[in-house]
Amino acid sequence: MIDLRSDTVTRPSPAMREAMAQAPVGDDVYGDDPTVKRLEARVAELLGKEDAVYMPTGSMTNQVAIRSHTESGDLVLMDAASHVVRSEGGGPAALSGVTAQRIAGDRGIFTADQVEDSLATPHAGSPTTLAPPATLLCVENTHNGGGGSIWPLETLDAVVAAGRRAGLRCHLDGARVWNASEATGVPPARYARDFDSVSVCFSKALGAPVGSALCGSAAFVRRARRFKQLFGGGFRQAGVIAAGALYALEHHRDGLADDHAKAGFLADVLVDIPGVELVREHVETNILRFRVPCRAGDFVDACLVEGVAMLVAGGRDVRAVMHRDVSMGDVERAAEVVRGVVGGRHDVNYD
Ligand SMILES: Cc1ncc(COP(=O)(O)O)c(C=O)c1O
Repeated sequence: MIDLRSDTVTRPSPAMREAMAQAPVGDDVYGDDPTVKRLEARVAELLGKEDAVYMPTGSMTNQVAIRSHTESGDLVLMDAASHVVRSEGGGPAALSGVTAQRIAGDRGIFTADQVEDSLATPHAGSPTTLAPPATLLCVENTHNGGGGSIWPLETLDAVVAAGRRAGLRCHLDGARVWNASEATGVPPARYARDFDSVSVCFSKALGAPVGSALCGSAAFVRRARRFKQLFGGGFRQAGVIAAGALYALEHHRDGLADDHAKAGFLADVLVDIPGVELVREHVETNILRFRVPCRAGDFVDACLVEGVAMLVAGGRDVRAVMHRDVSMGDVERAAEVVRGVVGGRHDVNYD
């Protein structure tokens, strides 16, 4: 099986497992797991923040961030296709009692004008108490739903500045900020610079089995630790998994360039297949989103029969994600399978 469903499907390498087996551990709820502490210090340093807190998932770091930054009833601005709003089980409403103001981004990227247009403009004669108070702006970089798109720095800076002018706190969902940095050469700390909090994942392209971290000021992280516990995320001997995350951070960031090369290779093949719709320039990192000339479900099922797994991303839209556990040879094979299925050699319904 060539598994292109997600970059979360990677398995720990023997060296990573060895690092995990050897990790010194303690009880993290009591704050004495040395490996978790090392990971938190290292990731805070890489993101240019005072502190970080390790948690089980990226969904949890995002939701703890929202809970830490807001009060029930607040308005939170975010892209309409962001992971926070579409794929975290309704967390913002359920866990923080906030309303999501969905901004229609272009592949997940929106503008300062759109931020300003999303905010209520109180004026003489209009009570300021009508609209929910906007308190938080969330940005996702790279953007998963946007096909691994990277925020241009100028747009990012302008959007955060617009948020600041409106008195918003700013959170970056940087689950794959490592990919953005690899592709552009812009350090993770620069992407994180103007944000109050940043969530990063170790279990996606970096290939660790478990975990994410939420970074920010010492005061913010203290508050986040309270909500980590409240949401049931208090770890015990988490050093075992933190060691995998540390290993991934130190040894696997270099490999991201290979993932981007694999995505580029597949994109080069797909653009030449009649019936497949893909904008080559939109493939910037390790995620491809493309349109097929049939129902995506039928297409994905036919590819699966041929040993290639991908995800349905819409009526005719498909997602394929490159990662450490697929080789260039696997990607070449996947490209052949896509060509064959689209070419109609298989029993696909093209209604
Ligand atoms: C951009 C983004 N943020 C957050 C998450 C959530 O991470 P997790 O699956 O660890 O909850 C994902 C998962 O794919 C993601 O793509």
